[in-house]
Amino acid sequence: MAKIVIDGKTYEVNPANNLLQECLSQGLDLPYFCWHPCMGSVGACRQCAVKQYRNAEDTKGTLVMACMTPANAGSIISINDPQAQKFRERVIESLMISHPHDCPVCEEGGECHLQDMTLMSGHNYRRYDKKKVTHNNQYLGPFINHEMNRCITCYRCVRYYDDYAGGTDLSAQANHHHVYFGRHEEGVLESEFSGNLVEVCPTGVFTDKVFSEHYSRKWDLQTAPSVCVGCAVGCNTTPGERYGSLRRIVNRYSSEVNGYFLCDRGRFGFEYVNSDERLREAQRVSGGKTTPLESGQITEVMASLKKSKAIGIGSPRAGNEANYALRSFVGEANFYAGMSDAEYDTVQLHIQLMQDPALHIPSIREIEQADAILILGEDVTNVAPRIALALRQSVRNKAKDLAKGCNIPAWQDAAVRELAQRDLSPLSILTPYATRLDDIASDVFIDSHPELLKFAYAIASAVGTSAPKASALQAGSDVARRIAEQLAAAKRPLVIAGSSGGAAMLRAAANVARALHSAGKGIVDLCVLAPEVNSVGLGMLTAAGQNLTSALQRINSGASLHAIVLENDLFRRAGHGQVAAALDRLETLLVIDQLPTKTTAKADYVLPSTAFSEHEATYVNYEGRAQISYQVHRCHSAAKPAWRWLHEKHDDHVADIVRRCSAEVAAFAELKSVLADARDFIAGMKIPRQSHRYSGRTAMKANLNVHEPKQPADSESPLAFSMEGIPLQKDSSLLGAAWAPQWNSNQSISKFQAEINGELTQGSTGTQLLHKKSVSAGYFPHDLLARPASNEGLQVAIALQIYGSDEMSARSPAIKERMTAPYISLSPVDAKTRGLSQGDEVVLGNTAFTAIVCIRSKMREGTAALYCGANDIDQFSLPPQLELKKSNSNGSRGIRGLIISDLYEEGY
Ligand code: SF4
Ligand code: SF4
Ligand code: FES
Repeated sequence: MAKIVIDGKTYEVNPANNLLQECLSQGLDLPYFCWHPCMGSVGACRQCAVKQYRNAEDTKGTLVMACMTPANAGSIISINDPQAQKFRERVIESLMISHPHDCPVCEEGGECHLQDMTLMSGHNYRRYDKKKVTHNNQYLGPFINHEMNRCITCYRCVRYYDDYAGGTDLSAQANHHHVYFGRHEEGVLESEFSGNLVEVCPTGVFTDKVFSEHYSRKWDLQTAPSVCVGCAVGCNTTPGERYGSLRRIVNRYSSEVNGYFLCDRGRFGFEYVNSDERLREAQRVSGGKTTPLESGQITEVMASLKKSKAIGIGSPRAGNEANYALRSFVGEANFYAGMSDAEYDTVQLHIQLMQDPALHIPSIREIEQADAILILGEDVTNVAPRIALALRQSVRNKAKDLAKGCNIPAWQDAAVRELAQRDLSPLSILTPYATRLDDIASDVFIDSHPELLKFAYAIASAVGTSAPKASALQAGSDVARRIAEQLAAAKRPLVIAGSSGGAAMLRAAANVARALHSAGKGIVDLCVLAPEVNSVGLGMLTAAGQNLTSALQRINSGASLHAIVLENDLFRRAGHGQVAAALDRLETLLVIDQLPTKTTAKADYVLPSTAFSEHEATYVNYEGRAQISYQVHRCHSAAKPAWRWLHEKHDDHVADIVRRCSAEVAAFAELKSVLADARDFIAGMKIPRQSHRYSGRTAMKANLNVHEPKQPADSESPLAFSMEGIPLQKDSSLLGAAWAPQWNSNQSISKFQAEINGELTQGSTGTQLLHKKSVSAGYFPHDLLARPASNEGLQVAIALQIYGSDEMSARSPAIKERMTAPYISLSPVDAKTRGLSQGDEVVLGNTAFTAIVCIRSKMREGTAALYCGANDIDQFSLPPQLELKKSNSNGSRGIRGLIISDLYEEGY
């Protein structure tokens, strides 16, 4: 630490940072635009000027940009110096010369960093009376609005989109007064992280298009701290509700999980909550007719299911409480994992690896510190998107090391990039098809799973002599050796695998990590990607062997003819025929869910459950981190949290369930620590979900009653459905929306961090549930799979898509606009030998399923990658090798909504 003086007061600061960052870390107010806590400094906007003095005798001082000046020990600066203040005021005036001053109609209004900084700088009168420069706006797809006239040319958008997120279709164009930030032509923004532009742009150029469909001011939204249910990363979010509908999702800072950014599935995939299709009342279904169920009838149905020893099938998209309540209702021996058998196997292995003392499942912050990475069989961008964004930062560690050697601080962003150019830390990808991270990879090896496995074992044995000997590779042994050397030479190597490559690939990844451990790399990072938000939690609640096939067999054998299915469409988990046959055999099928599915269509009873924003729940992410998500708004139907339908003690709250789960299930012993009720609240007061500026409460229900209704009580959580209470409690993890005096934008989060980019003031969120065992397991034996003969058809790998492969977000209108029809990617040679052209429709093997042909130059001959759409194709009924026949029905119909460069571009 170093001591510096700011406006006569001495502060202890980190000299590795710049003055702006340290001023903000100390809680001081200093305006800025182009600097971003994650993106460092470029000194473009000149807004952060301060006066710096050479020594205590220097009374004149020099204006410097705080973001470009290191916080060296002994620095003396002034934020309040009149010349510095005037400079900042004049800078903002010039930045705003062509700004339309349209705050009243701007969607950023009320949470705009430009508004905040304008007030903070004291600029309040527009002297420029000439014609403003104006621009045309572009259509940028279903997620983002464009209003270029509001631009202040801070360059944050392109620095984020291109430099940070690796996008290629947004750029700064033209020059002088005509600088334009947009695409080369109108069209959908291609990056999976485009939504972050809404928060990165300090003004209203890029705004949330989904939100604008049903817009509300920030202060009129009811909010609560929540967790994204889009994948197993568990990013922290703040959903906002108004008039009973969920309006938007924004990022909620978490130092260890998502930092400042979300992916577009997480940000825009929430609208299914507002769907007209939502299940709203308990129903009995008979002969295709539905009749409402009274509460007494529901009690009878539940009692009868209990008596008949029904089995329960849990869900990786339901929280721990719902799964635990189902397990308690049916008994542990009758509780089954509602995931595909392959996923079940990888999740069980994942849980085992989490407890291995030689291995560590890294958080996103830790992933960003990796300096050599190996991805085995996983398409990270489409499975755990936020981790892909983190990997784009990891590969820059080489640049940061180079900069360190030249005494350039890491926050000097432009200088570090200029120095390193394309010199990246090694990232190797072994994959069945090209992925969106290939542009930053040092090696990409594309082949079928059996070949990838051989390659992975070759890497493990090249890393350390202790690993099992691998059979010689026909090709690529030099590459395997090079990858092994890169991993062995790294300070923090990282191996990534998930369920896409199956348990065999995960075992191979574990062997590579274990070989690195044996070679003296200490505890090695092994990032295991789980498929869904609570796959790990469900896996931890399910006894060994209780997979879906065993549940279906039990039904087929007649041993159980009554079943409860929790928030799960089983037709996504096993072959359609197999599932239909088992469900048809049941005498009673009760399904609890939010939306109708193929499974609810088979049910005798359907109970409606609340969506993620309508109840409290805990989820366990891919790291084994349990996090709590709070209810944002009430559900105005008969839907209940799923656990409430299953739990017999009606007076219990969600905290009671969490405590019971902690007490009964050894793996969940620490779960209760995510509860906030034991924490210290000021005078026992609640935290309001509504801001102190929340408007219209007295008029909202005026069409029904002119008397303002009493605000509903919340007995479940420390939050209140009102504006009464104390918003700024000690625990910032309980903040729905961050706000601080003079800071209305999301950048106010700095007021709740121990230091910029550091933890929230109460520490990091979530609790690691699993502890390490005392002894590390050994290597796994090799699972070598024989490569099938090429004349038996194409060997198919299942491809996932960020838009479409997740069940619930795929039912949101904006996400639907980005979804494609099912497609099958194959090599040019395989297409030619089958007489197929790009865009042809083909029939898959002997099934009735069809897909569109997508020819990719990098596909390995003899292999194919199949995207099944939103479960349009029953992947479980397909043979491992497929032949394709051109469909008679079409001609060429193309792939709706496909981002061309995703799949067609030469090189993919
Ligand atoms: S569009 Fe926004 S982020 Fe980009 S330069 Fe303009 S003001 Fe800055
Ligand atoms: S990475 Fe996963 S958890 Fe994070 S925002 Fe995207 S879908 Fe949600
Ligand atoms: S924030 Fe310092 S110059 Fe832009």
